[in-house]
Amino acid sequence: MNILKTHDELNAYRGTVRGTLGLVPTMGALHDGHMALVKAAREQCDTVIASIFVNPAQFAPHEDLDTYPRTLEEDIKKLESAGCDAVWAPGVEEMYPGDNMDSDIVPAAVSLPLEGEHRPHFFAGVVNVVSRLFDQVKPDSAFFGEKDYQQLQVIKHMVKDYDIPVDVIGVPIVRDENGLALSSRNRYLSAEEYEVAVHLNRILFAMAEKLRQGETIQDVKAEALLELQKAGFDSIDYCAVRDAETLLHSIHHPLRILAAVKIGTTRLIDNVGV
Ligand code: PAJ
Repeated sequence: MNILKTHDELNAYRGTVRGTLGLVPTMGALHDGHMALVKAAREQCDTVIASIFVNPAQFAPHEDLDTYPRTLEEDIKKLESAGCDAVWAPGVEEMYPGDNMDSDIVPAAVSLPLEGEHRPHFFAGVVNVVSRLFDQVKPDSAFFGEKDYQQLQVIKHMVKDYDIPVDVIGVPIVRDENGLALSSRNRYLSAEEYEVAVHLNRILFAMAEKLRQGETIQDVKAEALLELQKAGFDSIDYCAVRDAETLLHSIHHPLRILAAVKIGTTRLIDNVGV
């Protein structure tokens, strides 16, 4: 597998690629959720590049940029055994020369609610780095997880609004044996916190079932908020039922249930389709 750290290395490699190229953007600390994206890319594209870059532009000053897990050696082994062809692992200076994080790309309106309200800096940082990655790697397709459902919608809007010739492909959430959505941040959870965390997916799946049976969104949400509190989450950023595409309030299907909660200092997000 080719490990590319500079623009020269990336450009030289890119010049050798024939056929379709799939990109899997990540921040590393790879787990089976990331690997599902690599697998989907492997199935659909002739060549697969994963990128690993912990993007300072999408972290607020009080967030976990410095402590975000960095496990490059292990990540490379996992990507190699998943049949990935190359890793693009630039440093901050390659991505943001002179520390200049300016960007002309503005996230679409779908970025404003939910995560946008609780992490106002976040999607500007994401579209900044993803548009740079698309420019650098020039993939035909790029693979994103439904785990970050709003992020996937924001990227889909970005390629449409800015006419970027990349096919954005969503991949279903990978969960552990208790239904907890895999996340690089799950490693922050203690054994007791994990027991609390597994309630999140159960409560969201129960909400989906109740909505399918015709209960009102208002009732289902009220019950879920009580259950989340009872389960022991320390705070609830949001637990919402929205239109699956626009993420605006709606009663029309398809809907998406999305939630963000905190256990201690660890923030978990999850979502389920209705
Ligand atoms: P990161 O959190 O590393 O996630 C990289 C990709 O893996 C995202 O598309 C995310 O949705 C997907 N992913 C994570 N956990 C998953 C799971 N359990 N099941 C399915 N897919 C999962 O998301 C980012 O990095 C960054 O914001 C990035 C897009 C790389 C821009 O910096």
